[in-house]
Amino acid sequence: MTFERPFKLVSYLAAVLLAMSSFSASAEGDAARGADLADTCKGCHFIPNYKNSYPVYKVPKIGGQNAEFVVAALKGYASGERSHDTMTAHAATLSDQDMLDVASYLSSLGAPRTEDASGPVSDKIATCSACHGDRGISAMGMYPNLAGQHRSYLVKALHAYRDGSRKNPIMSGFAGALSDEDIEEIALYFSSQKGLFTPAL
Ligand code: HEC
Ligand code: HEC
Repeated sequence: MTFERPFKLVSYLAAVLLAMSSFSASAEGDAARGADLADTCKGCHFIPNYKNSYPVYKVPKIGGQNAEFVVAALKGYASGERSHDTMTAHAATLSDQDMLDVASYLSSLGAPRTEDASGPVSDKIATCSACHGDRGISAMGMYPNLAGQHRSYLVKALHAYRDGSRKNPIMSGFAGALSDEDIEEIALYFSSQKGLFTPAL
């Protein structure tokens, strides 16, 4: 009995470590494979200032976006939690591994750097900076970078959270507290920071 227990503990720990290492290996994603998968995204996301079929906002910049957020966004479209016809159709064709690979490719193209920031920090974003950073460069991978994003897309996203057409428990609360003028000012501020970019074709 006394012999068996430590042995069991050791083999249990070994199994856990093995599971963790194989998990982190796949959780990183294969950027080279992601580059091939991203071919289908190029028609929209790799064309500067592209407007898709909706004239009111530009297709979001995804170059330099946090990999964790990109995966979450793709899963959101695939599950119908986020709705957009073409994005849902694209996301639905991707496996979990495909999503990790594409996300890892996109983030490998370059990351926004706080050193590039200039000018004063807007006082409108005091409640946003804990997650999105003073300059729209997020503190954690699960939060999207906002720096350099298209102004019209930021406006659209904030209105969607506020009116409930894009659902997120965290963001509905924060966006709900904003006036139309706040949304305009915040979108102008984050879009004028350096950060996200349209990847070159
Ligand atoms: C036909 C044009 C089109 C194609 C092709 C396309 N997208 Fe999109 N994508 C959009 C639009 C428009 C949005 C914004 C939709 C919305 O309002 O939620 C978007 C949103 C996204 C978002 C969320 C961005 C954010 O900041 O919230 C990600 C991530 C994304 N696309 C990745 C991809 C990937 C990866 C591919 C290829 C597998 C792809 N897209 C193909 C048009 C496209
Ligand atoms: C507690 C953390 C937190 C705070 C504080 C916060 N956000 Fe967010 N924000 C998030 C998360 C998480 C998401 C992604 C939600 C989703 O998947 O739709 C997000 C998404 C967004 C998006 C959509 C970006 C995209 O690429 O689609 C915008 C715009 C945004 N936030 C702006 C703001 C603004 C402006 C404030 C302050 C008024 C704010 N956020 C405060 C966590 C936060």
